Amino acid sequence: MVKCMLTQIWRQKYYALYKDMAGRHTQARFNFILRKKLTPRDIADMFNDFAEDYEQVYFNIGWRPYEVVGDFMAKIIPEENRSKLKVLDVGAGTGLLGNKLKNHGFTHVDGLDPAKNMLNVAKRRNIYQRYICAFINKDRNNAIETDYYDYIVASGAFNEGLIPCGAFQEMIRIVKPGGRITFTVPTKYINISDNLRDQLLPLIDQLAQEGVWEVTSVALEDGELSSTDGPGTLFSLKVFVSEKTF
Ligand SMILES: C[S@@+](CC[C@H](N)C(=O)[O-])C[C@H]1O[C@@H](n2cnc3c(N)ncnc32)[C@H](O)[C@@H]1O
Repeated sequence: MVKCMLTQIWRQKYYALYKDMAGRHTQARFNFILRKKLTPRDIADMFNDFAEDYEQVYFNIGWRPYEVVGDFMAKIIPEENRSKLKVLDVGAGTGLLGNKLKNHGFTHVDGLDPAKNMLNVAKRRNIYQRYICAFINKDRNNAIETDYYDYIVASGAFNEGLIPCGAFQEMIRIVKPGGRITFTVPTKYINISDNLRDQLLPLIDQLAQEGVWEVTSVALEDGELSSTDGPGTLFSLKVFVSEKTF
C-alpha cells in the first residue's frame, strides 16, 4: 500500500517535471532569452521534442538559410567537381541543407547533429551518407579524421545556444587545408547572443589576421534567411591550416 502510494507520488512528480521541461522547450524554440538558461543537452532535447513538426514550424516563418548556403556552394563549385567532394553539414537537423546539396549534385554529404530525432527524419529520406549524432564544440571527436572534409556547411545553426565559437577549433581540424567552412548568421542574433557578439566576429577577424583563414562575407537582406530573422551575413572561411588551437 505504502509502496503503491510512493510510486504514485513519484509518477506525478516525474510527470510534472517532464511537462515543465517540455513546456520550457516549446517556449524556448524562438525565445533566445529562455534559451540562454538551457544547457546544450536541453537544446538538443528541445529539437528532439519537435523533430516531427520542425519543418512545418520553420516553414511557417519562411525558413531559407539552407537555400542560401546550398546555392552559394553551387555558385563557387563547378558542377563537374561536386560529386568528388566530401561535405559535412553541422547542425544538420532534418536534412534540409543536405537535400539541397544533393539536388545540386553533391553526392558525398554527411550530417552531424546532437538531436537524434532530427537526424532520424533525415535518415528516413536517405539524405546523408553518414549520420553523426554528436555536438560539435571545442572537444575533439575521434570518430572524424583530421583533414577529412573538403567543405563544412551549416544553415541556421549559429544562434543562441547552438554551435559555440569554440567549435571552429574542431572544424579547422576536420576540414582539409584549402577547404571552406560556410554558414549564415542573422545580424540580430549576433547582437543578442553573448557567444556570437563577443566571440564570433572577433574570432573571425583574429584568425584572418593570423593567416588561418581567408574570409568571404556576403550581406543578406531582410527576408533572405526567413521572414523573422532580418538581415544577416553568409560567411565562407577558406582554411589554410590543418589544426589551430585557441
Ligand atoms: C535551427 S536547426 C537547423 C537545422 C538545419 N540545418 C536547417 O537548416 O533546417 C539547428 C540545429 O542545430 C543543432 N545543434 C544544436 N547544438 C549543436 C551543436 N553544438 N553542434 C551541432 N549541432 C547543434 C540542433 O539540434 C538543430 O538540429
